[in-house]
Amino acid sequence: MAKELSNGVSKPPPTPSPLRNSKFFQSNMRILVTGGAGFIGSHLVDKLMENEKNEVIVADNFFTGSKDNLRKWIGHPRFELIRHDVTEPLLVEVDQIYHLACPASPIFYKYNPVKTIKTNVIGTLNMLGLAKRVGARILLTSTSEVYGDPLEHPQKEEYWGNVNPIGVRSCYDEGKRVAETLMFDYHRQHGIEIRIARIFNTYGPRMNIDDGRVVSNFIAQALRGEPLTVQAPGTQTRSFCYVSDMVDGLIRLMEGDNTGPINLGNPGEFTMMELAEAVKELIDPNVPVKNVENTPDDPRQRKPDITKAKELLGWEPKITLRQGLPLMEEDFRQRLGVPKKA
Ligand SMILES: NC(=O)c1ccc[n+]([C@@H]2O[C@H](COP(=O)([O-])OP(=O)(O)OC[C@H]3O[C@@H](n4cnc5c(N)ncnc54)[C@H](O)[C@@H]3O)[C@@H](O)[C@H]2O)c1
Repeated sequence: MAKELSNGVSKPPPTPSPLRNSKFFQSNMRILVTGGAGFIGSHLVDKLMENEKNEVIVADNFFTGSKDNLRKWIGHPRFELIRHDVTEPLLVEVDQIYHLACPASPIFYKYNPVKTIKTNVIGTLNMLGLAKRVGARILLTSTSEVYGDPLEHPQKEEYWGNVNPIGVRSCYDEGKRVAETLMFDYHRQHGIEIRIARIFNTYGPRMNIDDGRVVSNFIAQALRGEPLTVQAPGTQTRSFCYVSDMVDGLIRLMEGDNTGPINLGNPGEFTMMELAEAVKELIDPNVPVKNVENTPDDPRQRKPDITKAKELLGWEPKITLRQGLPLMEEDFRQRLGVPKKA
């Protein structure tokens, strides 16, 4: 009988292609980033491309992402961009897979919920199949939404969550939960090297301007001189991680020895009213705040417990909300064509 390895795994990882072990190729790491034309994905690509030993392939269907986010790499000899939907199989020879492909904003993932769940389930199956075939290590960007409307606060990785299986957000929340299950089943059954990050709210330049996520909403509204729409009751909390911190955490997780799941996020907790006030102070103190109705299944509290990330990855966020918001303001000003008043 096969000897049991860690996590109930009964098989060693599949062997990478012989070419990958040859002297000529050894120094190069070929990395696939699915969803690499999106917000977090494009910042991850920037960071990976800084290392001259990395070759990066992006596969993206451009549903929420854009070529513009990757403009500076198009034509670069170590970079390739493929228009590809992860719900279809992909055959490429790679050493690592960062699997990010999935719309992250409720406006987009609720637009076609059946497609969202297909992306999470079939897309993850396809990427795991690829990882198995080529012996690649695969990292899934899961989400704090797997905790649902949490009954424990802050959320530790051991918490199993409180998720509505039939709600309007379930295509995303349950989709990611199944994706995590698939990752662990491939790990146990086929020995695939897996990494799972549970990402909490992340913000920064290149977020879609009208994607309905609270930081982008408030900044765009303040710049347009429109009221900041705070969903009732306004006391619900979120934590916000700046994108460069998130990218650093993802790379540490991929390079480290732990499968996860590991929470990545900023434990600083803000109510929606506090966030609105911070944006007003930064951009326009005269802009009014308007209370609007909340959306169904909106979690009341969200705050990561990042003890594991600190211990296992030596990671914690460095950029505070007050430092990150102006960087995002600058990017939104450029894209909206609203110059700063002298
Ligand atoms: N931003 C956050 O706060 C946050 C929080 C938790 C988890 N995440 C996860 O991080 C990942 C990236 O999020 P983001 O904020 O950059 O979102 P994003 O929408 O900007 O990026 C997602 C990318 O995936 C692509 N994509 C979507 N469906 C696809 C498909 N079927 N085939 C190929 N490409 C597809 C999109 O075109 C886009 O480029 C997602 O998996 C998301 O669930 C993000």
